[in-house]
Amino acid sequence: MKERENFGSRMAVIMALAGSAIGLGNIWRFPYLVGQNGGAAFVIVYIIATLFISLPIFFAESVIGRRSGANCRGAMERLAPGTKWKWMGFLMVFTPLWIVSYYSVVGGWSLEYLVQALRLDFIHTTPENLSGLFERFISRPYAPVAYHLAFLATTVTIVALGVKSGIEKFSKICLPVLFVLVVVIAVFSTTLPGAQKGVAYLLKPDFSKVTLKTCLDALGQSFYSLSLGMGIIITYSSYVSKKENLLVSGVGTAVSDLLFALLAGLAIMPAVFAAGIEPGSGPGLIFDTLPYIFAQMGLQMPWLSSIAAILFFVTILFAALTSSVSLIEVGVAYLTEEKGLKRGWACVLLFFLCGAVGVLCSLSFGPLAGTKVFGLGLFDFADTFASNVLLTLGGLLVVLFVGWKMARPDVFDEFTNGGTKRANVFWFKFFYFMIRYVAPVGVAILFISNLL
Ligand code: PFF
Repeated sequence: MKERENFGSRMAVIMALAGSAIGLGNIWRFPYLVGQNGGAAFVIVYIIATLFISLPIFFAESVIGRRSGANCRGAMERLAPGTKWKWMGFLMVFTPLWIVSYYSVVGGWSLEYLVQALRLDFIHTTPENLSGLFERFISRPYAPVAYHLAFLATTVTIVALGVKSGIEKFSKICLPVLFVLVVVIAVFSTTLPGAQKGVAYLLKPDFSKVTLKTCLDALGQSFYSLSLGMGIIITYSSYVSKKENLLVSGVGTAVSDLLFALLAGLAIMPAVFAAGIEPGSGPGLIFDTLPYIFAQMGLQMPWLSSIAAILFFVTILFAALTSSVSLIEVGVAYLTEEKGLKRGWACVLLFFLCGAVGVLCSLSFGPLAGTKVFGLGLFDFADTFASNVLLTLGGLLVVLFVGWKMARPDVFDEFTNGGTKRANVFWFKFFYFMIRYVAPVGVAILFISNLL
């Protein structure tokens, strides 16, 4: 059998994992959730939810991946041969492919917005003319489909280059660039006249806003943001060498993810307030509100506004790409290892498969607007089903598997590198307890609340 590739260094592991974690969720959802749910108070709840529930799930996935050294389906065969756990393996392969189909539609929008920013379109229009732009924009039949396919083609090309020369190299370039860009935009945004209100919105702690719903929102967001429950951490961890410390890469990923989310908040919200707009969340925030701000700024400072727009959409595009690469890699690892396909062919196959599903999702804003599944358009159905059902179900199965099916000494072994990392022993006890008792209850509550 051909030897499997590994990531080249600890930094590479953290960059690839952080690249997957840092995505659209950090940019369009986190800042809004923070502002709505009590500012710094929400951030504290978020950190607690991450420590007690999301990180344990992250480690459970890491243990499965590195212990087995295989793709999600193969991992279950190695760790629990001939059992029904194979279905968990299949679920973990299916979920990211389902997600990438519509995630790349959004990636396509960011690509087209970047093209528009480069053509200086936002400053050559008046803010008023932009109203309804996004709706008009996504409901066209051809252009969004073409951009979606271009985004997906870029994703599969990076993955086709391999774990080291593709994913690792790309993440090592993108991650530092992302951080520099978001800091530059945050500095710019917080110095706009009237920006202080946005900073206060994000950071002023208000504990009276913390309710049970806030806690569930924080858990849901940290779960989504760390890319849990969809086989990504299993697959990436299978490329981590036995010498690496799983604790360090997990904590490093969670910290960079949170830091980026906070910086994204400081990049976006002050500008939103400076422009006198009500903050919102989701695609509307970055594809409706921001162009409006750029156009408004463009009336007084056209050059600065154009540069800000370009930097901003580059950031969104890169953040989306490092995430979509990780989503596709799960399927590619499965097809190459279980089905014997060459990496290149696996990428081509997934391009057509996910591309076709994505085309339907894209058209659901235009020509297929009348087609509904459970009362939702195709794109919304795909997103709701993934976020509310597939991800939480995956996360629940992972902790049950590692906490109750795998032998404790095996988990201990992975966590402490065969007992050699003595400092990890305490953390093993902590996280093992969380994996067995706390995380399953937390995810089960999240799962049920999503269905209600
Ligand atoms: N963690 C990434 C983000 O926050 O955007 C990637 C991702 C997570 C994509 C969950 C899709 C998803 F359903």
